[in-house]
Amino acid sequence: MDNKKIIVANWKMNPQTEEEVLLFFKTFKKYVENIPNAEIVICPPIIFLPCIKDQKINAKLGAQDMFWEEKGAYTGVISPLMIKNFGCQYVILGHSERRKYLGETDEMINLKLKAAIKNRISPIVCIGEFSSGESEDSYKFLEREIKGAFRGVENFASLPFPVIIAYEPVWAIGTGMTPNANKVLGMLLFIKKIIGEIYGEKAAEKIKIIYGGSVDSKNAREFIKEGKMDGLLVGGASLYAIEFAKIAQEAVR
Ligand code: PGA
Repeated sequence: MDNKKIIVANWKMNPQTEEEVLLFFKTFKKYVENIPNAEIVICPPIIFLPCIKDQKINAKLGAQDMFWEEKGAYTGVISPLMIKNFGCQYVILGHSERRKYLGETDEMINLKLKAAIKNRISPIVCIGEFSSGESEDSYKFLEREIKGAFRGVENFASLPFPVIIAYEPVWAIGTGMTPNANKVLGMLLFIKKIIGEIYGEKAAEKIKIIYGGSVDSKNAREFIKEGKMDGLLVGGASLYAIEFAKIAQEAVR
């Protein structure tokens, strides 16, 4: 998968019924069979994993979150072993909505990241600043989020699966506003610099960095081509089968 663009659908708390999921795939199938250079990852609400697992399509599965312990008395959460058994190869960690509404902290994200790596699930660690202005503070903020998430995490440079950071400026999520490609490229270089300082050059080269925040089929190409991103994390637009397939096509065009 090394040079494939990673195109992730984050369905969040949608849709509401299995019928809608099946309808999505009925259409999606027709459009995605032939995009060999894209690693398409669908992250649905966990309850839909069984019905999606049966769909024979050109896409991988991911979870939107998981707990750090493998089993035991932890009400209401899902373990790394469970998502793995249901075929998830990826897991989104530390999404800003979880940080905001569920009080998820860097310490918790750090434990989850360690658990994902231990269980050989590719983590997609979300980071991103709150305000759109150019300031020193946003770099410091991103640095803190990266160091918080990766504290004590072993060097991942030689792991056989990708470790991914999703750069998702919070102000761009669900707003229709996006940073320009130049800013995205600047953030990519900054993230690689921090990873390089912690883990060395090989890890900085190896880490995959994807962009998220109001991605659609019109701007997808720009983040990949000019922003040099390794992929995209798509929220709202990923709920529409044709639009999401178009995003994947644009990303690898
Ligand atoms: P959006 O969400 O594409 O709807 O902005 C992205 C995300 O939150 O992952």
